[in-house]
Amino acid sequence: MLSRAAVLASAAALPPAHAHPAPALEARQARCLATYQRTGTRSDKCVRQEYAQYHPTIVKGCQAKNFTENEEVKAQLRKKAGDKWSMKLDYLTSRLKERIVEGKVPGAIVELGVYDGRTSRILRRFIDAFAPDREFHVYDSFAGLPSRADADGKQVRQEDGEGGMAVPQRRFRYGFERENLRLPDGIHEGFFRNISASEYPTPIAFAFFDGDLYSSVYDSFVQVYWKMSPGGIIMVHDYTDHHGRFAGVKKAVEAFLQDKAETVTECRGLIAMVVKRPSSAHSGPSRGAASAARYVRLRDRNSIANSPPARVSPSPPPPPPQRLTAQRSC
Ligand SMILES: C[S@@+](CC[C@H](N)C(=O)[O-])C[C@H]1O[C@@H](n2cnc3c(N)ncnc32)[C@H](O)[C@@H]1O
Repeated sequence: MLSRAAVLASAAALPPAHAHPAPALEARQARCLATYQRTGTRSDKCVRQEYAQYHPTIVKGCQAKNFTENEEVKAQLRKKAGDKWSMKLDYLTSRLKERIVEGKVPGAIVELGVYDGRTSRILRRFIDAFAPDREFHVYDSFAGLPSRADADGKQVRQEDGEGGMAVPQRRFRYGFERENLRLPDGIHEGFFRNISASEYPTPIAFAFFDGDLYSSVYDSFVQVYWKMSPGGIIMVHDYTDHHGRFAGVKKAVEAFLQDKAETVTECRGLIAMVVKRPSSAHSGPSRGAASAARYVRLRDRNSIANSPPARVSPSPPPPPPQRLTAQRSC
């Protein structure tokens, strides 16, 4: 999520990937920036160019090999989203349609970290159009980010600090009312780790994690991973490298998956996709205490200094058999 001010500030603040970009590239960048200043929107081409400029390694090494926007989804949603449509939304909704709806993966759709609900409203439109029987739950502190940890690296922008991006829940609700949309089945307020496990539905077919920080993404996995249906998808936004603004996100994904059967299957833009494997599906008796202790150990090992005391899902299932895999990013 980048506000207009943030994009403009980033254009000024971040150094280009190459000290002396080719004149043609400079001209293209200038055109993109001028259009953005004038209209407040960026074309997909400009967004891609920004990624290529600031995240060259990701763009090269982290692309979905066979992704084409789903035409049906595009026809239904893109017009409604107008100039707010983005690479993130086309990837998210196309994969949701092809893999979850058409693949008949059972379960709810959840979003952890919703801000003012821009993506939530698209998900609601998607559900109404293609999956009307699915439950939809959203989670946010509505008080902004928790404090940063060492793993998150240097704070680049003001809104990335503790309390950054706080919007009251009523603003989230108002966005739905304004567009005449049904509210999510559950709007759960609090830090992810403090929201009771029973407020996360079971099973979950699709989860979007957009908490920006190490602890937020790690906590999202802790709450949701165990409840995913086999074949279910977790999409993690801002899966970028450690030089970037979201250094903690990628580290959290990798730390959580290190002893799981899953890997990052593919990425597009800055979104990573993890597909839940059948072998680690939710089953078996409660191992809540062991899992909580393991989480706290891992959290401490990764210097997650922030925050409210951990309150971990009381009944996550036994962890899957340990299976280390070579691929840790796409
Ligand atoms: C980048 S914004 C989400 C943008 C939204 N997904 C969208 O696409 O429009 C991050 C949101 O995550 C919330 N957040 C981050 N960490 C959280 C945590 N640990 N618990 C609860 N909310 C959190 C913040 O309050 C903020 O609203």
